[in-house]
Amino acid sequence: MSRLVIISNRLPFSLDTSGDKVQIRQSSGGLVSALKGYFEQTGNKQNDFDEKIWVGSCDFSEDDWKENKESLQGADFSIEPIFIEKEVYSDYYNGFSNSTIWPLFHYFPSMTEYKKQEFEAYYKVNQLFADRIIEIMKPDDVIWVHDYQLMILPQMLRQANPEATIGFFLHIPFPTYEIFRLIPREWKTKIMEGLLGADLVGFHTYDYAQYFINSAKMILSLENQYNTLTYHNRLIRADLFPIGIDFDKFKQASEKEEVVAYKDELLQSFGGKKIIFSVDRLDYTKGLTYRLQGFENFLAKYPEWREKIVFILNIIPSRDSIPAYVDRKRIIEEMVSTINGKYSSIQWQPIIYRYNHLPFDELCGLYLAADVALITPLRDGMNLVAKEYVAGSNNGGVLVLSELTGAASELNEACHVNPTDAEEMADAINTALTMPLEEQKQRMQAMQKRLSDYNVVQWVNDFLEQLSRIKKEQEHLK
Ligand code: G6P
Repeated sequence: MSRLVIISNRLPFSLDTSGDKVQIRQSSGGLVSALKGYFEQTGNKQNDFDEKIWVGSCDFSEDDWKENKESLQGADFSIEPIFIEKEVYSDYYNGFSNSTIWPLFHYFPSMTEYKKQEFEAYYKVNQLFADRIIEIMKPDDVIWVHDYQLMILPQMLRQANPEATIGFFLHIPFPTYEIFRLIPREWKTKIMEGLLGADLVGFHTYDYAQYFINSAKMILSLENQYNTLTYHNRLIRADLFPIGIDFDKFKQASEKEEVVAYKDELLQSFGGKKIIFSVDRLDYTKGLTYRLQGFENFLAKYPEWREKIVFILNIIPSRDSIPAYVDRKRIIEEMVSTINGKYSSIQWQPIIYRYNHLPFDELCGLYLAADVALITPLRDGMNLVAKEYVAGSNNGGVLVLSELTGAASELNEACHVNPTDAEEMADAINTALTMPLEEQKQRMQAMQKRLSDYNVVQWVNDFLEQLSRIKKEQEHLK
């Protein structure tokens, strides 16, 4: 019996216990959105695993879990929650994961903190995951660890099960060695050794894979041959797997009655104005202040568009116990009101700002209604919003995309911009708004074809196939 064990810090849902009734809410972020898509598509098919398990930490108590267990077990996979003490979790999640690794790997060294206690908590939580997984692990399981919060886990699992099949995928950029080396020696060695516990280490782009291989070389003096490293007599492959989305889900949503009705309502309420749309988690990596500057520059440089467009800026709450995120919210809100104050007329306000979680149908209605999607992170491992917009737009629409996202290398037909260049962003918005419909459709179709050819199921299959290939190569060498 073969089982797929997916491990990520976050489970695909959280529990909102603030009201009278417990509400289940899908977690935000690219990782969950993609993997959930995979499970939903393959849930009823015969050709894959006999059982799928998702292991993750949770924001609910053991009691809440016991009470809601039935409704929380997804039909397509079973759930294995890891319960972690509050303080340890905070040092691991707010601390090392999101105040050390996250800023550093996104090239924000000046925002990076280096605290011993937080690294220790990170190590401890990786160990907690390992302890539970080792209890449930079976010899034929395929173990797939996800993302930067769990980089030491592969090695911990390897030590307990030298023959295990273990994959690791990093959903954020892997930085150049010049950045990676800023981490204190002991920690970066543990991280490197941790990742090398996997048989296959996957990245979104060619560059990230090469930077990883180079760091392995610099830190552990490993040699590389065709993306294959040898560590403790075991072959390990590092390769690129640009993550896909559940293309059909977004495509079909664009034809769904409720979604079309929501779009029509939006179009009607804006009375023919063109819609520019952005949706991002609240994060300094998303370049929101630069985006607002670019938008303001557009209003100043192209006054003919005033009163003829609206910019719907939807921000999804995220990591709100970390000061850097709280500060960001305040700065963004100040900028929004300054721009609105400066350019609004009695009948018109340029920016509609919302700070909330978006239900799926509403999100798809906005994708459908948007004439332009403005997605300009300063750095992003991939950026799935860009791909979702392409899949979910039905009749034209233009994607303005930062060249510093992983997605930019796949979505060549988007209008690429440097996110810090307010001038270029203003021009790109104008180009997008004036692009002939025929050209919009051609560009969209080319991108849609690519996204539907390599969707999230193909991405998973591709990764798992490579994983089994490297296991076979290891066997040959024995
Ligand atoms: C990114 C990361 C994910 C993370 C998500 C949401 O996509 O790669 O690992 O889950 O952001 O962030 P959060 O901290 O809320 O889990």
